[in-house]
Order: sequence, then structure tokens, then C-alpha cells
Amino acid sequence: MLTTTPQPIQLSDYKAPDFLIATTELDFDLAPETTRVTARLTITRNAAYLGANDAPLVLMGERLKLLSVTLDGQPVTDYTLTDETLTLASVPDSFTLETEVEINPLGNKTLEGLYMSSGRYCTQCEAEGFRKITYYLDRPDGLSKYRVRIEAPKAGFPHLLSNGNLLETGDLDGGKHYALWEDPFFKPCYLFALVAGELDVLEDSLTTMSGRKVELKIYVDTGMRDRSLYAMDALKRSMLWDEQVYGREYDLDLFMIVAVRDFNFGAMENKGLNVFNASLLLADPTTATDMDYERIESVIAHEYFHNWSGNRVTCRDWFQLCLKEGLTVFRDQGFSADQRGHAVARIKDVRALRARQFPEDSGPLAHPVRPSSYVKIDNFYTATIYEKGAEIVGMLKTFVGPATYRQALDHYFATNDGTAATLEDFLAAFEAVTGDDFSPWLQWYTQAGTPRLHVTSAYDANSKTLTLSFTQATAPTPGQPEKSALPIPIRFGLLTAEGEKQMFTRDGILAAESLFILRDASAELTLNDVKHAPVLSILRHFSAPVVLTVEEPTSHAFARFKGDSDPFNRWEAAQGLAKAIILSETPDEDLIDGFAQGLEASLLDEDLDHAFKALIMGLPTESDLAQSLSPIDPAFIHRNRKAFKTALSLRLYETVHGLYTSLTPAETFSPDADAAGTRALRNALLDLMLAGHNRGAENATSVNLAFRHFETASNMTDMVGGLVALMHVQDRPYKDALDIFYARFKHEPLVIDKWFALQAGCAHPDTLARVRTLSQHPDFDAKTPNRWRALVQSFANNQSAFHAPDGSGYDFLVDQVLEVDAFNPMTAARLVEPLSRYRVYAEPYRTNMKKALQTITLSPDLSKNVLELATKALA
Ligand code: ARG
Ligand code: ZN
Repeated sequence: MLTTTPQPIQLSDYKAPDFLIATTELDFDLAPETTRVTARLTITRNAAYLGANDAPLVLMGERLKLLSVTLDGQPVTDYTLTDETLTLASVPDSFTLETEVEINPLGNKTLEGLYMSSGRYCTQCEAEGFRKITYYLDRPDGLSKYRVRIEAPKAGFPHLLSNGNLLETGDLDGGKHYALWEDPFFKPCYLFALVAGELDVLEDSLTTMSGRKVELKIYVDTGMRDRSLYAMDALKRSMLWDEQVYGREYDLDLFMIVAVRDFNFGAMENKGLNVFNASLLLADPTTATDMDYERIESVIAHEYFHNWSGNRVTCRDWFQLCLKEGLTVFRDQGFSADQRGHAVARIKDVRALRARQFPEDSGPLAHPVRPSSYVKIDNFYTATIYEKGAEIVGMLKTFVGPATYRQALDHYFATNDGTAATLEDFLAAFEAVTGDDFSPWLQWYTQAGTPRLHVTSAYDANSKTLTLSFTQATAPTPGQPEKSALPIPIRFGLLTAEGEKQMFTRDGILAAESLFILRDASAELTLNDVKHAPVLSILRHFSAPVVLTVEEPTSHAFARFKGDSDPFNRWEAAQGLAKAIILSETPDEDLIDGFAQGLEASLLDEDLDHAFKALIMGLPTESDLAQSLSPIDPAFIHRNRKAFKTALSLRLYETVHGLYTSLTPAETFSPDADAAGTRALRNALLDLMLAGHNRGAENATSVNLAFRHFETASNMTDMVGGLVALMHVQDRPYKDALDIFYARFKHEPLVIDKWFALQAGCAHPDTLARVRTLSQHPDFDAKTPNRWRALVQSFANNQSAFHAPDGSGYDFLVDQVLEVDAFNPMTAARLVEPLSRYRVYAEPYRTNMKKALQTITLSPDLSKNVLELATKALA
């Protein structure tokens, strides 16, 4: 804990390690407050420096009680210890080092290193948690072979798990037993894992493409086995998909997943032993929503895919984090799209990108996908590194085409297998298979900020030619005042004024759609044989993560809304129109009428699937709208968005009600995309109906309908859908529903998390008071990250409630962040971000947000994590 700004680590200072650790043998003697860890490391001086280097051996270690050190069997006493290092000044070129330390897993509330959750031991090492287990060269380019022996009492700890293959188990004196594990693959220490405790296991197996049988085991809380069936199913589908689509086969004979309740984030790809936040693994129809199922499917895939993109090929240093994360997110998005439909998946991914990454990229915490410096790498597990990182891989694929992309990836895996690689290595694979220079693409990794792409057009009816003019510009970000032009793949097509598809000729080739790569600050493109005055459909499938503006009349957006054959741009047209309506000072009744008609036509369109209809009904979120308003006035956005929704509700009541009634819930539950799409549509319709409840004649009818929807729901998706719709009503039926919900699920922690989150996310003037009361609820526990985030993060995301003009919402957040920072800095730091963009807010928000940040930085004993972010936000 410190109060001065710590020194950042720079990418430009990277230096290969002085020592290599060929083998790592760990002995764990588990005890809640006094676990002993013995580490036997075979160490050699890095051949790169032999003869030219007599560097001391510096191992990292934090919160360890050192008991002994021996070197080649001889006790060592002349070492230097600090809070963060163990240094041996002079060592031979090759030796065995043995250390023994004592640690306290029960007292470890950082949930990093070895800790206890619900009476079980578990670990989280990425990024730098291994140093809380033993003294080590805790850096991702230190690859080693591991052998792990775990010893614990049999009672309470029947399962003793670690990475790789189980070599041996046996009984010991005193009611204890042991297990010996060996991982045949070299790995960095951040992929080490250990789990011990009482668990139920779901077992299955899968035969890989080369005919090897792999045992699959999912370990969960006792009694929860059936809730892991969906995760198992998703795992098997992921494994087959990675074989079929990327040619990647699993490499061990055993793959294990463990669900834990106390976890700082989603999940972790430890070699052969993934550890999951229980909220991203356990599901059944009565406790999980369709969104949960979808998330589980994608995170199971994500962590499994890391086995190649992350584990077999890992990162040279943490600046390269997106080498594994961006690529793996892109891979899991591809999997989800194949499972659930490409258009719908793309829309959801872009919605998430805009909600989280775009704001980050335009604020004081903006950083390149490959940052050049950091204080705590844990602060860089961001939407930029994950989601923008994935967008870059997607652009590369669009640019080279799917077949060449696959060749490049095969080449990347083949040439970097077993190594710790860099982004240059990744791009080198594209260069190797195409012979082209990919260095312009590297700038997407090194330059922060969202490019703005502006398009104008000129149509000549006589010659039937269309000239498109593209310009790009990126605003300055912290530390990067000057920006370069980036390669931007622009997929586009043309429509007629009626929204029909229109062909054109480009470079002599007749086309319905084309791809243009904008490489410079501006460029022109001429298309021929354009028969009718065209409507542009630019950036189809969102072919680049940019902010697009097109100079065109509003009628063109309506044409795309009506008939764009690219579903993404059809949805995008609706979003753009809604945004224009909501952000205008006075309501434009004609525009609202036009929008309502367009929406009605989409809802009645037999060719559109339910999931898509549900998405096209979704108005832009308040945080997305804020991106287009300067300065941001959260109250204005909330008021106008609400008014627009009410206006739509009143205009479309008959259609919406009719469609709602025609969608009868299925007899038996299926989590598949079609069934989920129908539920999503039904819930969206209900929500829209209720949005106008206090203005229309249908008041009582729709309120009753929503309550019945909630009461008779046979699955969690519909229960939540009912509750969300009832939020429009507040008062009795809403409050009753909340009580019923609590009473029914009070013994289900994952469902009670939803109960907290729903209330904290409710747009109502009383929400802050309610949230304060909930923070005193007996079920609230700031030490359990899931519960804390359910209340505090949901509240901070609730734009209208969080941004109370008097700053009371910010004060609440500051109290929470400071309280949690005292024991769990990693989780606390994630909630500094909501305050960070104060400069773009209107008064009084701006001053109040800034004051809140200052209160944080002036607090004593801040963690490096929180201090880094709060300082950067104020800089
Ligand atoms: N590698 C994990 C994943 O992709 C996340 C690890 C997050 N670690 C952290 N320190 N925030 O899912
Ligand atoms: Zn990941």
C-alpha cells in the first residue's frame, strides 16, 4: 500500500530474462492459515547472456514468509529480502534452488495467488499472482515444466487438482492424502492452478480429430452437478469447432473446469484446469437467463480456445496481452456467431463495443491495444485490449479473406508453438502467407483512439457514376497528440431510394457489395453503372471499429431501415434514427411517426427472425447516446429516451400487444438460439407495452399482463423480463414481484445477485436510497465480488441514478471503492472508470465527478491499482 505514484513499467525496457527455469517442482502442504510451499527450481543462466552477464538472481515474491533457501542442497543465508523480491547476489550458471515458504490462503482476500472460497482452496495467478505462492521469475516469457504434489486432509479435501496429468495418489498418516500432477507442456507460471476441496463432478469424454480420447470433468459445488450440463455441452461443441474451423486439437488426456463462487472476474484458462466464476458456468432454466446461457457458451469457448491462443503460444510480456486476448475473443465471437446466427451476434458484439470500448477510447484512460507502459497490468484487462483487439483480428480477416486468414493462423501456431510471442510475430504470419507488408496494421495496435470515418458522395445521373469520398481522423489521446491514418476496411453496398438492392460496377466488375481499404487520410472511389440515385450502405457488418458519419438526407436512413440486405446496417439505421430523435431538443413528430412505422414493418416482417426483431426494438443505451452529446447531460438523455419510448409505446400498442399475444411460450424449455430469440422478443414487446402504461387507456390491462407474465414464468428469462417491465410501474406490483422473487430464491446466491443487480439498475429517483439500504442487507457482502458488483457496478452503470446532480451517487461509489480497495484492489480498481470521463460532462456533474476522484486520490493507503487509474483520470 502506498501513497506516491509508483514507477510505470515500459515496453521499451523489455529485456529477456537473465535466468531460465527448466523445471519447477512444487510441494503444497495445505492448511488454511499455514500452507507450506516448497519449490525446487532447476535454473540456468540464459544462454543469450552467458559469459557476458553475472546478474544476480532476483525472484519475485509478495506476502510470503520465507522459511529456508538452499542452493544445490546447501543452505543459503546471504540473500536479500524486500516486500517484493528475494535476491541472491552471486549464483553459478546452472543450479537447483529450493525455497520453502508459508502462506495464508484463508486470510487472502485479494483472491489472487492461493486463496479459499467456500472452504475450498483455489488459485488465480494471471497476471502476477504466482508470486503470492512462491518466490519465482513471475513473467510470461519464463516457460517451465511443472510437477506438483498436493497434500491435504482427506476429510473436506477429497479432490486435489492441478495442471496436466495425474501421476499418482495415495494415503498418508494422520488422515491425510496426496496427489502428484505433471504437466508435460512448458508453460508460464500465470497458467499454474491448484484446486482442493469437496466437489461434485460431471464426467464426459470426447474423441479428438486424431482419435485420442479426452476425459472431460467439470467440478462444481455439491448438489450442482446438473447445472453444469450446459457448460459440458458447450465445451464439447467448442472443442469440435476449434478442430473444424481452426484445425486445433486438444493436447492433454484430461480437461478439467472448476466453478468457484469467489472470483475477481469471469474465468481463467489455466492449462488443463480452467477455473470459472460460478456465474459463468452453472445454469438451469429456473435460475439462469438466456443471456447467462449465451455468456456461458462463449466463455467456455473462450477459455478452451486459449489452449492454443494463449497457452501453446503465450505472450512474451504483458504488453502483448491482446495477442492472446484479442485473438481469443475474436475466436469465441466466431464460435458464438456459428452457434447463434452471424447478424444477431455481430449486433450484440458491436453494441458491447460501443457501450464499453468507445467511451474508454475517448477518455483519460484511453490506451493503445498494445499499451507502452503500465503500473499494474491488472488495470489493462480492458475492453480495449479484449474487444478492440478482437476487432483488429476481424479486420485482418476481412482484408485477406477467410482462406488466407486460416493459412496465416496455421502458420502463426506452427511457427510460434511453445514460445512466448509478440504482435510482430502475429503479423509476420500474415506477411509470410501473403508476401505483403503488414506494418501499417501494427498501428491499430499502437495507436489509441477511435477513428472517425466521414463519407460524402456525388452522383451523376447522366453518366451513372457515383463518386464516394472517404476521410478519416483520430482525435488526440493521452500521450499521443498526433495520429496517423490507419488501414480501414470498408464493406459497402448500394440501395435504391425504396431500399431495394442496387448493383454497380467497380473496376469493370459488376457487384452487389464490395470492400474498399482506406489507407490514407482521404481517398475517392468511383463506381459505374449506378442506374438509380443511390442510398449508401457503408461499413456493412461493421467492418471496422470506427465512428461513421455519412452526409445524406434522413430519408436514406429510412431506406436502409426498411430494406438493407445487410442486417447489421438495417439495425444500424434504426439506431441512428433513434439517436437523432432522442438527442434533438424538441420532439420531431414526423420523424417519430416514420420511426414507428419502420419499426412496425420490421416487427411484422415474416422474413426476420425473432432475435433480430428483439434487437431492432432496442433503443440505443444511455451510455451510447452520451457518446453523441457534448457536453453530456445524463438527465436530458434519460428524459428524452424515456419520452421517445413512451411515444413508441402509444403509437404501436395494438401491434405490440397483438404480436405479444401471438407468441405463446414453449411447453418445454430449450436454451437454443431460436427459443431464446422468441423469449427475447416477447420480453421486449412486454417492456415496450409497459413503457406507455401510465399514458394510455390500457393501463390496468398491461400492468396485469406484466404481473401475470412474471408470476407464470417457467424460466428465469421470463421472470426477469416481467420484473423489468414492471419497473415502469414501480409501486405495488413491482415491489410485490421483488418480494416474491426474493422469497423464492433466497438460497440461490447466483439468483440473489440478479435481485440486487435489478434493483440497482432501476431508473427511478429512489434508486440510490434503495441501493444504500441494500448495502446494509444481510445478504450483501463486499468481500464476494459477484455480490459487490451486482449492487455497485450495476448502480454505476445506471446512468440516470448514478449521475444524481448533487453528486450523491458518486459519493456512494467512492465509499465502496475505498472500502473494497483495502482488501481486494483488483476488483475495486474496476470501478474507478465510471468517474474518469468527468471532463465531457455538463455541470454540475463535471465538478462533482472530479471531486469524487480527488477524494479517492487523497485517501491514505491506496493500492497501486486504484491509484494508477484515479491519477490518470485526473491528469
Ligand atoms: N485470461 C483470463 C481470460 O481471458 C482473464 C484473466 C484476468 N486477469 C486479471 N488480472 N484481470 O478470461
Ligand atoms: Zn481470455
